[in-house]
Amino acid sequence: MAKLKTTFFCQNCGTQYSKWQGQCTACKEWNTITEEVIQKPEKSDWKTPANTSKRASKPLLINEIDTSKEARLNTMDEEFNRVLGGGLVPGSLTLLGGEPGIGKSTLLLQISLKLPYKTLYVSGEESQKQIKMRAERIDPSANHCYILTETKTQNIFKQIESLQPDIVVIDSIQTLHSDYIESSSGSISQIKECTTELIKFAKETATPVILIGHITKDGNIAGPKILEHMVDTVLQFEGDRNHVFRILRANKNRFGSTNELGIYEMQGSGLREVSNPSEILISQKDEDLSGNAIAATLEGMRPLMIEVQALVSTAVYGTPQRSATGFNAKRLNMLLAVLEKRAGFRLGAKDVFLNITGGITVDDPAIDLAVVAAILSSNEDVALQKDFCFAAEIGLSGEVRPVQRVEQRIIEAEKLGFSTIFVSKYNKISLKPSAIRIQLISKIEDVVDLII
Ligand code: TYD
Ligand code: MG
Repeated sequence: MAKLKTTFFCQNCGTQYSKWQGQCTACKEWNTITEEVIQKPEKSDWKTPANTSKRASKPLLINEIDTSKEARLNTMDEEFNRVLGGGLVPGSLTLLGGEPGIGKSTLLLQISLKLPYKTLYVSGEESQKQIKMRAERIDPSANHCYILTETKTQNIFKQIESLQPDIVVIDSIQTLHSDYIESSSGSISQIKECTTELIKFAKETATPVILIGHITKDGNIAGPKILEHMVDTVLQFEGDRNHVFRILRANKNRFGSTNELGIYEMQGSGLREVSNPSEILISQKDEDLSGNAIAATLEGMRPLMIEVQALVSTAVYGTPQRSATGFNAKRLNMLLAVLEKRAGFRLGAKDVFLNITGGITVDDPAIDLAVVAAILSSNEDVALQKDFCFAAEIGLSGEVRPVQRVEQRIIEAEKLGFSTIFVSKYNKISLKPSAIRIQLISKIEDVVDLII
């Protein structure tokens, strides 16, 4: 028997050491280094061919390289296609990460069921019965999808060889283990090894493989950082578990832009694609309520109209409370300070609550103006006109700053029937909209006069 070879890995960052030590010198975490046995008897890859010389590639002139085979596979899911950059690339490895229970398995099972190709869905987490029950809720008529419950990569490859699927989905990479490595599933060396085997399989057979990845409590994909380097595309599925909206975004994409965004709504029968998100994110109310304002934001490349709600009331306790959901609390404090100093509103003794509806989190600075408008509206208890919307950033001296891609926001606002959009005077707008009025403002004081 070959000599047992062991190495030490930091379970936090994946750094490799030749001997044990108490603290990882790379990430400074304590007690994260564990020994892993890496036993490699004359290792073979996924199909046991010892033909490396045959496959050795030679350099080609860039315009001689044949790209005709790179036609993408349509996943029959518009949002998923959009985020991938137009569909699955043959031979690509895609990693989908997200919080437990957010809907990763649901999303990929749903896509597997809808695909018109032969799909193999490998689950190491649920039994075939469990998956069948879920599939019945999503799409009972599907008949191209095979379900395999297996965690050993060698067995998975055996099944793949006999089934010859067009697409393989693995739920999840952390449950897989390879015979060539002794350590337990989910450990750094197992994840590395299984991913390497899958990459070899994907590249050699031009079969796209989609992996589900668990994330750690600080939001990174569990396992070595190298996992994200190895795969072609890293997608993240996120959203608030208590809300119905889920956002799919690409953190890395070798075949497309990372600016695209997919939006889904979790329903009793799986995830529904939301192709016009703005209409859902804005609640349709009959009465005029104070404290509501609509922001024309941009998530990635997609314009999104988002409703901001604020509640300003006299503080009951000594220290006023400030709380923000879906918006950075520090930024809220800054906007309140600007309102106090530049526009003369005494908000220091008031409680301020801010909420972005729909359970989504917004980073786009263009939401500032809507936040300010919602706060002013609640403070004065005057409802804003329902067909007003806002897109501008606020600076520390109270200036209203321009935002990127303002024209795209204006077009979206116009499409949804808003009568007026408030933007910064310094935005260069070459667009000539017909139905919407563009109100240019330069200082925060102007907002007060214009809206109240
Ligand atoms: P799941 O896809 O298993 O999440 P993950 O694989 O990311 O851990 O499940 C997500 C949740 O979605 C689950 O708690 C129940 C809910 N759900 C629905 O609301 N409707 C549905 O049709 C399905 C299948 C799940
Ligand atoms: Mg799951």
